[in-house]
Amino acid sequence: MTQSHTRLLILLIALLTISAAFAEPADVEIAAEKPSKSKREKIPPSDGYYKGREIAVTMHFTGADWLTRESRDREEDCTTMLAALGVKPGQTVCDMGCGNGFYSIKLAEMVGKDGKVLAVDIQPQMLSLLKLRAKAAKIKNIKPLLGTFVDPKLPDGAVDLILLVDVYHEFSHPEQMLAAMRKSLKPGGRLALVEFREEDPAVPIKPLHKMSKQQILKEIPPNGFKLVEQFDKLPWQHLMFFERDDATAKDAAEKLEKSQK
Ligand SMILES: C[S@@+](CC[C@H](N)C(=O)[O-])C[C@H]1O[C@@H](n2cnc3c(N)ncnc32)[C@H](O)[C@@H]1O
Repeated sequence: MTQSHTRLLILLIALLTISAAFAEPADVEIAAEKPSKSKREKIPPSDGYYKGREIAVTMHFTGADWLTRESRDREEDCTTMLAALGVKPGQTVCDMGCGNGFYSIKLAEMVGKDGKVLAVDIQPQMLSLLKLRAKAAKIKNIKPLLGTFVDPKLPDGAVDLILLVDVYHEFSHPEQMLAAMRKSLKPGGRLALVEFREEDPAVPIKPLHKMSKQQILKEIPPNGFKLVEQFDKLPWQHLMFFERDDATAKDAAEKLEKSQK
């Protein structure tokens, strides 16, 4: 083999290695981590409905550009939403269903170098996009976590605030996710739920990706949470804050355990 052949071969191998590293499975709707067999057996199949609501299909990572579109702040007033969260420097905040990290990056700046952001998603490709954006912004206090449909892999009793923007309605297993999030909250910790308003036909979002306040209250409080605050000044979304409600939590945990047997 001549020297130029050898060089060509090395170049070819390098190109194949790089393209394999970036290849994305074309045959999956959601490229989430598959639970191990033993875990899978414990997960009751989702029938696609929860308390009368049809669960929306997860937004695919190939559509992630929509999350960082130039018009987003103008349309959703993300700046006002973030200010309403009351995030403080030094806190541990979770960006649940973080997508490509539009909010993780902003939250990381708000909690500062003594705080951290746990950024959870079930699509590894979304986490890769988030890592690229965090690197470009030189942000080091974001910890990406690859969750499963039932387990966000959060540490117990460690989180001050869990922000859920446009994600709860996609949970295939809302009860398991709510139970896991409850466990991860510090005493006094909060969920901040942001969902497009179903009550408002002027909000230009597909019906399955919207939720009414009535439906939210049908789903969240019976899972061991109480509504503690509402912010009604966003142009398209509800913003509702929930804290653990230990009075109803025992019932919810028992019910969930029974349903998994
Ligand atoms: C519409 S995107 C919203 C992304 C981000 N919150 C934002 O507003 O920019 C919903 C994200 O939630 C993720 N997701 C769906 N079910 C999830 C689950 N059970 N746990 C964690 N993430 C989930 C999806 O993979 C997707 O990236």
